[in-house]
Amino acid sequence: MTDTQSAELMFNPFEPGFLADPYPQYKRLRDNDPVHESPMGFWFLSQYDDVSALLRAGLSVEDRHIADTTVRDQYHTMMTGDVGQAILNYSMLDRDPPDHTRLRSLVTKVFTRRAIAALEPEIVRQVDESLDRMADAGSVDLVDELAFPLPFAIISQMLGMPPTDHVRVRELSGTLVKSLEVADEETVKAIVAASMELTEITRGLIAWKRENPADDLLTALITAEHEGQMLNDDELVAQVVLLYVAGHETTVNLIANGTVALLRNPDQFALLRSRPDLAENAVEELLRYDSPVQQTRRITIEPHTVRDKEIPAGSFVLACLASANRDDRFFGPDAEQLRLDRPDARHQASFGAGPHHCLGAALARLEGKIAIGRLVDRFPDLAFDGDVEWNGRINLRGPARLPVRVR
Ligand code: HEM
Repeated sequence: MTDTQSAELMFNPFEPGFLADPYPQYKRLRDNDPVHESPMGFWFLSQYDDVSALLRAGLSVEDRHIADTTVRDQYHTMMTGDVGQAILNYSMLDRDPPDHTRLRSLVTKVFTRRAIAALEPEIVRQVDESLDRMADAGSVDLVDELAFPLPFAIISQMLGMPPTDHVRVRELSGTLVKSLEVADEETVKAIVAASMELTEITRGLIAWKRENPADDLLTALITAEHEGQMLNDDELVAQVVLLYVAGHETTVNLIANGTVALLRNPDQFALLRSRPDLAENAVEELLRYDSPVQQTRRITIEPHTVRDKEIPAGSFVLACLASANRDDRFFGPDAEQLRLDRPDARHQASFGAGPHHCLGAALARLEGKIAIGRLVDRFPDLAFDGDVEWNGRINLRGPARLPVRVR
């Protein structure tokens, strides 16, 4: 293999054009080096079956098991979110059993299907308000007007956050999720500061809720018990911050990436308008076509064999959900095309799999269906009104600005 060929066969998020369209690079890896050992010291899986099997294999998510300290330090800042501060180490996303099992059971108890379904009228109301404002303005940034405010307002309301905290919390959480990306030293400092401030705000809120219980998720979490155990204060803060951040920094990309995909595929936009019954399947297909979370990660404690390669113990492995979702071995020869009536769209990998499968999937699906369904129904002439500005993130990839006009 020549140097140019091997350079082309790397997971390289710095390749020109990657942030706007990472899919050609994923395809190269999928077709030529599906179990890719990066010269940067981690592994990258890109085929559907391998990604799915890895996530179900019950491997670790705790960074302390990464053998290579350079990689460990790098991923403390790039992927995991527990940048130097203890608190997020208590988040279920970063814990193995038995802690993971206990934390997840407690949160599952209050974050129920019923609690989510009950939100439907409120989601419809919020979406319609946004659409009314869009109709009045004629031309808007869809991220600012709909894709961000909807999931943010809904998770804030579910948790019972007082309205006054919203603006600051929004800024802080935007900084905090940069910990899922490649970050320079300045950014790492900002992430640590944001995380500390968000932790303090959440502690204050919990103290206030203890005095003023209400019919909301936070009150339920404070009092939740599983096999005689309750969340301690640090655990409580960590799960609330996780729900809060996961609750909106991801769904924003579902709505915005989904809208971009529909505007770039007018036949599919027209199909959804003529067949509103497709709305649910359309959301699955939009999740598949452009994943709101592009990767998740696992750490091997024992040597782990994938195909003909043995991944040594202590390795950091990225499972590329976005690439798995475009794998023609699984989704067929039209895997790179958007098809809202695709029969197996529901098997998309965007919410991960196995013990850490996304806890908020039902909420994200509901918000996506209502937002995208009503947007398309209300504005038949919806069109781009300028270039999409990508948010520069490798993992939580989506538009920072999406200028559209509605007539
Ligand atoms: C975990 C994706 C929305 C809460 C995850 C994981 C992914 C993901 C990929 C990790 C899975 C793994 O490693 O196997 C998404 C996407 C969303 C979304 C694409 C929107 C389109 C939400 C929402 C909430 C939420 C709305 C809550 C309000 C969580 C939690 C976990 C998680 C608590 C950790 C589960 C665990 O570690 O056991 N999500 N998510 N997510 N998500 Fe989501």
